[in-house]
Amino acid sequence: MFLTGAGVSAESGIPTFRGKEGYWTVRAREYHPQELATHEAFEAMPWEVWAWYLYRRAICRNAAPNDGHRALVRAGTAWPDRFALVTQNVDGLHRRAGNADHHVLAIHGDIQQMRCARECVADRWQIPDAVGELGKGEPVSPAVKALLVCPKCTGMARPHVLWFDESYDEERYHLDTVRRIANEAALVVVAGTSAQTNLPWQVVTLGARAGATIVDINLEDNPFGEIAQKSGGVIRGPAAAALTAIVDRLVG
Ligand code: APR
Repeated sequence: MFLTGAGVSAESGIPTFRGKEGYWTVRAREYHPQELATHEAFEAMPWEVWAWYLYRRAICRNAAPNDGHRALVRAGTAWPDRFALVTQNVDGLHRRAGNADHHVLAIHGDIQQMRCARECVADRWQIPDAVGELGKGEPVSPAVKALLVCPKCTGMARPHVLWFDESYDEERYHLDTVRRIANEAALVVVAGTSAQTNLPWQVVTLGARAGATIVDINLEDNPFGEIAQKSGGVIRGPAAAALTAIVDRLVG
């Protein structure tokens, strides 16, 4: 089981969340991603929140997978029945690198997708290409607003991402599947996450309890490092090189 965070995509030029470049300004007020990435903010200022996601979506669309992503494709190919890639990243780069859909468990959603803001159905849709790409601080135009609607009920659509004031579930975010796999894991490699969100904690602690070897890859120390220290160890360096080295060693 590989558990990835924003640090894995940082080397593809996608800003991490808690790094200094993660901040966002709306109406001259600076917002921390945690404030914008909430259902409450979407209720209060839906088009400002959409503008932020469409800007991040543009960054993700223009980013390319790096060697770290490619190493995980090799791992998935080598172990088709014994590989799981749990990612907090909504950028879609694991799939774009070539990992199979059934191997990638995107537990925080996908920034290229939208769903009904009223949850009239559980379906998800690709955000239409006609939406185009929004620059930093660019408002959502009436023409784009007309495209961000639920194809079923024609009500407003919302980004298919997990917000800070929302909960994991199986249908949208693979909660039970991820827990089940963590209980069966022999190896859990954590890469590029600051260990600030809930389900990743469950993955690492369930894996450790199940006797899995835990390895932590990060530029910096973080709470998962403390668990890994007592298990498979830590690698303090860029994720792309570390993942490549691990996969090369394991897959050969
Ligand atoms: N190689 C390895 N680690 C890196 C690299 C790199 N090149 N660059 C940054 N890191 C590490 C940082 O040291 C930090 O610990 O990646 C981590 C990124 O942390 P966050 O920005 O907090 O991102 P992440 O842990 O993925 O956030 C989790 O929180 O904001 C929500 O839903 C959002 O999915 C996100 C979740």
